[in-house]
Amino acid sequence: MNRRTFLQAVAATAAFGAARPNISLAADAKPALLGGKPVHTGGWVSWPQWRPEWEAKIMEVYRSRKWFRLSGPNVPEFEEAWAKMIGAKKALACASGTTSLIIGLNVMDVDAGDEVITSPYTFIATYNAILNRKALPVFADTNPETLTMCPKSLESRITERTKAIMPVHIYGMPCDMDAINPIAKKHKLAVVEDACQAWLAEYKGRKCGTLGDVGGFSFQESKHIPSGEGGVVTSMSEELIDKCNSYHNCGRACGTNKGTGSFTRGDNYRMTQFQAALLLQQFDKLKKETAIRQGNADHLRANLGKIPGIKPVRLPENSKPSWHLCAFLYDAEQFNGLSRNNFLKALSAEGVPCSSPYREQYYDGLLDEAINSRGYKRLWPAERLKAYRDSFQELKGNKQACETMFAFGQNMLLADRKDLDQIGEAIRKIQKHSAELAKA
Ligand SMILES: Cc1ncc(COP(=O)(O)O)c(C=O)c1O
Repeated sequence: MNRRTFLQAVAATAAFGAARPNISLAADAKPALLGGKPVHTGGWVSWPQWRPEWEAKIMEVYRSRKWFRLSGPNVPEFEEAWAKMIGAKKALACASGTTSLIIGLNVMDVDAGDEVITSPYTFIATYNAILNRKALPVFADTNPETLTMCPKSLESRITERTKAIMPVHIYGMPCDMDAINPIAKKHKLAVVEDACQAWLAEYKGRKCGTLGDVGGFSFQESKHIPSGEGGVVTSMSEELIDKCNSYHNCGRACGTNKGTGSFTRGDNYRMTQFQAALLLQQFDKLKKETAIRQGNADHLRANLGKIPGIKPVRLPENSKPSWHLCAFLYDAEQFNGLSRNNFLKALSAEGVPCSSPYREQYYDGLLDEAINSRGYKRLWPAERLKAYRDSFQELKGNKQACETMFAFGQNMLLADRKDLDQIGEAIRKIQKHSAELAKA
């Protein structure tokens, strides 16, 4: 570059920078991983959060000595408010997201020796909830563009033992329920939504957790509306929620689920009054922050989508994710072969925390342990368990998803636009220096 072209480039950068601050200049700077200054300093919103004004309610529960689900008003109040907020007929609060799924599978009559088709691309608790019923989690493939269950792969997984489908609205991105529900209906299968990351997420005008027979949510500490631990089951059927209530309360009769008058089989998955009181304080916060995350995710997706090699995950038409994580797909070829994992390291060094949460975890041992157990060997013929294990190799879309995705946490979507734009600056900087970084 001669002096004239250099000055032209600087002038162009200055003009561009006036509208979009220092993007080219920041990209020219040395990557933090190679000793330069990070693009972003000052951290991000910490999580979970608390408010002084919530304390009075928590102390009221404390002093009331009514801490147990059946002795105070907060749990039923929470259930009513949650059902109303998401447009469900009824809701049943419980101990965790995992237990919400176990309860849901139980009331949809998933029993030992049954098969449940689910998504491999999920938190391991989805697998565990199915295993808890002594059922087999059979995997539909993942669409590597959407990270959710590929409906086209569903029917080939159905056997005479299949009892339910468990779609997972991963990161709060709704599954393509208009394709999944008719398959379930055709084969008389129950639909249990894993909505554990999908608080207030919407699909074609309806909220997740109201799109199948039952849905389960998590309120664990990292979640958008946390109570340390906690969960809720939702349904458009009052009868099903009454059954959920019985199951989670040691099998006691409830509402329409009178049983024989004595106990039905059950467990203790009850929520405490403290959890419900804490959750009730956070409804307005959840609604406001969901709108902020949605606006900021749109902005970030538009910005990062302009960078060659970075693709926003595709969403179903007319859907509004909750954005537990904001996920993108990475193409190393556009970054001089810089591996996805080294890209993540370089980005984290720029003060932009990011991750690639789920591996091909069906190879991690949990499922081998299950299918080699005494119980599973009793419940399935050896050929079925072998074919099941072999079928993991067919999950090509899931493998691709695990290898190419990366994501930013929900807390980063609560940042100011200025901070959010630094994510793009950091990626552009890494791209510019990617050949150097790939060799480092
Ligand atoms: C997709 C998914 N399913 C199930 C769960 C289980 O929820 P919990 O941790 O509340 O048991 C989680 C929680 O992280 C989750 O993200």
